[in-house]
Amino acid sequence: MNKILAISASPRRNGNSELALRAFCHAAEENGISVELIRLQELRLEPCRGCELCEADGICVVKDKMQPLYEKVATVKGLVLATPIYYGSLSAQLKIFMDRFQSWWQAKYRLNRPFVHLDDGKIGYIISVGALQRPDFADNAVSIAKVFFHSINYNFGGNLSLQGLDRKGEINDNPAALVKASRAGKEFIGRYML
Ligand SMILES: Cc1cc2nc3c(=O)[nH]c(=O)nc-3n(C[C@H](O)[C@H](O)[C@H](O)COP(=O)(O)O)c2cc1C
Repeated sequence: MNKILAISASPRRNGNSELALRAFCHAAEENGISVELIRLQELRLEPCRGCELCEADGICVVKDKMQPLYEKVATVKGLVLATPIYYGSLSAQLKIFMDRFQSWWQAKYRLNRPFVHLDDGKIGYIISVGALQRPDFADNAVSIAKVFFHSINYNFGGNLSLQGLDRKGEINDNPAALVKASRAGKEFIGRYML
């Protein structure tokens, strides 16, 4: 389905990364592509238990609000993650979301029955926002996202790393950052979604 699932992984509603995500997704909406934005913080997902019960069938036994997300990730074309940089890496909310795809890892590598195939042409993208001018922190987040996208058979479609933004909503006073986000969104939509 030619749809984007936009995952906001900040604990702050309308934080900088979420606002960047919205600017990024604007181009999709302009082109009639539907966008569903999910705030992980509101779902209170349980972390992976490492129980390995998913080894049997690729299904996670933790019955929480993650269950409908598996279905969405299996059906959309674009998955856009937006995270604040926390301690040089992703937010905990995003890491929990990723770890819960261990069931998909089992389905792909142990059961040889992946839920998504690489040639389905699904595309993942990551946006990160940090306070410090530390591109290496953003690089950490991107490396982790690449491992994640690879293991769920999404193609990596790129990243946008914004720095120098700290207070909540500060991105609204930084038109250059918002322009970067909306340009990156236009490029993503033009290249992969049209
Ligand atoms: C727990 C915590 C850890 C943080 N660690 C970093 C960091 O390592 N590097 C950095 O540049 N900014 C760090 N920050 C600042 C956030 O990345 C920054 O405030 C960002 O704009 C938050 O995005 P949000 O508004 O989407 O939540 C940290 C903030 C918090 C609350």
